[in-house]
Amino acid sequence: MNILAIETSCDETAAAVIKNGRNILSNVTATSAGIHARTGGVIPEDAARKQIKAVIPVIQLALSDAQVTDKDIDAIAVTVGPGLIGSLLVGVETAKTLSFLWDIPIIPVNHLIGHIYGNWLDAEQKNKKLKDKTSDHKPQFPALALVVSGGHTDLVLMKGYGKLRWIGGTRDDAAGEAFDKTARLLGIPYPGGPNLSILADKFIKNNPKMKLNMFPRPLTDEDNYDWSFSGLKTAVLREVNKIATGKDISKMSDYKKSSVSPKIQKVKSRLAAEIQEAIADSLVVKTAKAIDEFKPKSFLLAGGVAANTRLREKFLTHNNAKYYRIFHVCDARLCTDNATFIGAAAYYNNKIIDWKKVNAVPQLTITGET
Ligand code: KG4
Ligand code: ZN
Repeated sequence: MNILAIETSCDETAAAVIKNGRNILSNVTATSAGIHARTGGVIPEDAARKQIKAVIPVIQLALSDAQVTDKDIDAIAVTVGPGLIGSLLVGVETAKTLSFLWDIPIIPVNHLIGHIYGNWLDAEQKNKKLKDKTSDHKPQFPALALVVSGGHTDLVLMKGYGKLRWIGGTRDDAAGEAFDKTARLLGIPYPGGPNLSILADKFIKNNPKMKLNMFPRPLTDEDNYDWSFSGLKTAVLREVNKIATGKDISKMSDYKKSSVSPKIQKVKSRLAAEIQEAIADSLVVKTAKAIDEFKPKSFLLAGGVAANTRLREKFLTHNNAKYYRIFHVCDARLCTDNATFIGAAAYYNNKIIDWKKVNAVPQLTITGET
């Protein structure tokens, strides 16, 4: 079964052809990150305008790269939410039009659930580096999945395909948001998360023995699977002011002067490493507790933040590599938004819907329908 998958929930315009839920025949992603780098973030109208122009060429390229035509496509998968309404509509309306024209069914996909199914993609393509390390390439149920993206942090237990129970998540900012917002406080350019992690990894490489415990890991000792990342912004703001002025203040007005201080430029990489460590530790410690309680056969790390090398390493080595055998993660390029995982999710949750009934749902949650 060949699925043409379309993903346009944020600033990417992506299409892929996936065979039997696992085999990536093509994977095309166009991004307007260049424009957003100039403005420091995504401007929804700009993103949607670019996507309208890009969507048809991206789909055409995905078909030609896969060496197929519309006659070889059995279903169209499309992200219906969560995401930016203008952006989602570009993908959804395109999918509906193609479904009508080609007389091919649509399978709507929840973007957050989609991320998890990246772990079902063929292991060879899914992760070349981890290939020899993990014992089993296809995830087994029950599975525990941690989805860490720009807008969401959710921990879910999966008893089977489509059988998903939410067990924890963030009470405020998402993990990716914490990376992006603190990166901004350090003057690190958009996209904050990946750029911050480059600085942080270099620092750790040059200072392998340094203890990184400047910032708090909230809720770590609480008996739940919740996270809180919003306090990290204030802690970083306070630290930046303290280093620059010697005063213990967390005011934004003081920060403006502090942030350009040469003293900050000198310690920027150290602060980046501290931030990355605080976020990664929080995620690993809480998730490890859930792994110990629920004893899943597979643990699946997913979402853009799963591309973070330090986080992956920590999961692989935590608690004397206890979780090594059950650990799954995609190649970093497949963790961030693209259409391959949308195609995989559609195959395993094959809920065909009449094209007239498919709608964009910007506020969809991980336990929402679809
Ligand atoms: O899943 P994703 O590509 O888009 C959403 O669905 O939100 O996730 C994007 C998030 C952003 O917050 C980005 O900064 C973060 O993932 N991210 C990273 C890394 N790569 C992407 N955060 C830390 N380290 C990375 N290497
Ligand atoms: Zn995403």
